[in-house]
Amino acid sequence: MQRRKFISLGSLGLSAFTFSSFKSPKAIRKPIVISTWDAGIEANKAAWKILNNGGPALDAVEQGVMVTESSQNCCVGLGANPDRDGFVTLDASIMDHQFNCGSVAFLERIKHPISVARRVMEKTPHVMLVGEGAQQFAVAEGFPLESEQLSDDAKRAYENWLKKSEYKPVINIERTKGNHSFAPSKLESGEWNHDTIGMVALDAHGNLSGSCTTSGQGFKMRGRVGDSPIIGAGLFVDNEVGAATATGQGEDVIRISGSHLVVEFMRQGLHPEAACKKAVERIIKAKGIEKSKEIQVGFIAINKQGEYGGYCIQKGFNFAVCYADDQNFLEDGKFIL
Ligand code: GLY
Repeated sequence: MQRRKFISLGSLGLSAFTFSSFKSPKAIRKPIVISTWDAGIEANKAAWKILNNGGPALDAVEQGVMVTESSQNCCVGLGANPDRDGFVTLDASIMDHQFNCGSVAFLERIKHPISVARRVMEKTPHVMLVGEGAQQFAVAEGFPLESEQLSDDAKRAYENWLKKSEYKPVINIERTKGNHSFAPSKLESGEWNHDTIGMVALDAHGNLSGSCTTSGQGFKMRGRVGDSPIIGAGLFVDNEVGAATATGQGEDVIRISGSHLVVEFMRQGLHPEAACKKAVERIIKAKGIEKSKEIQVGFIAINKQGEYGGYCIQKGFNFAVCYADDQNFLEDGKFIL
């Protein structure tokens, strides 16, 4: 009788359900927010305030990275490096728990591209606006048009770069171990090339969202856009599975649809750290080991259980993790090369 009952459940495809229902459920850590690089510590604080009050992950990831966009001491937002023609151009994207997403690229003179990306998501039938059109939309939405003057740090770095005008954008390779604080001299010497903050969060209601904002590569070709505003590359969220974001050499993240790939690896059951590692391996496989040594890419991810992880190509990438008032700390990304 017992055997017959089991077989009939199996024929209905229910045996897996019967067995898995005996497993104890995984502990869920929520809310939680993680973000790229050490600037993530301050950004996480703003995000945590919202999450800790039961607010939505979407608000948390927007307001979190706005802190970094406002900072003059960072390579994100209007205080950041200009392109090789001397103009700061910004890219950003945002995605919620229902596959709603918005992004802007090649946006000039707007302080908070992440908020414009959110308006694109919420107020237009589109996903992405670029350049002049994105700026027109932002102004129509009430965002002030800021001066195009460079910050003092960026001006100095640009003037220094102009001496050779060498077109060799290098991104996110942190050569000074252990000291991640910004100084213009580091920018000039090439030791500092952080360009992006990516943030993903799981709120108290169990919903995921993510954001990503950048000035892109310093002294880049005019019109160059990286991975950050491209949904699936710089950012991806699937509320059934997890959320991921990227930093580093955008072209190589785009080539493998990096953040989407990380989420798909998590869907297959991989822990976020293992999923990030496999995406990094994919880049190295596509590019070859020698060429991969010249670049940096880092991924971070969280899953629906609030587990998190990060991985990068080479030593030097870190990310900030926050899941309590007194738990907001930096973790070094594990690396492959
Ligand atoms: N990851 C930022 C960029 O490549 O623009």
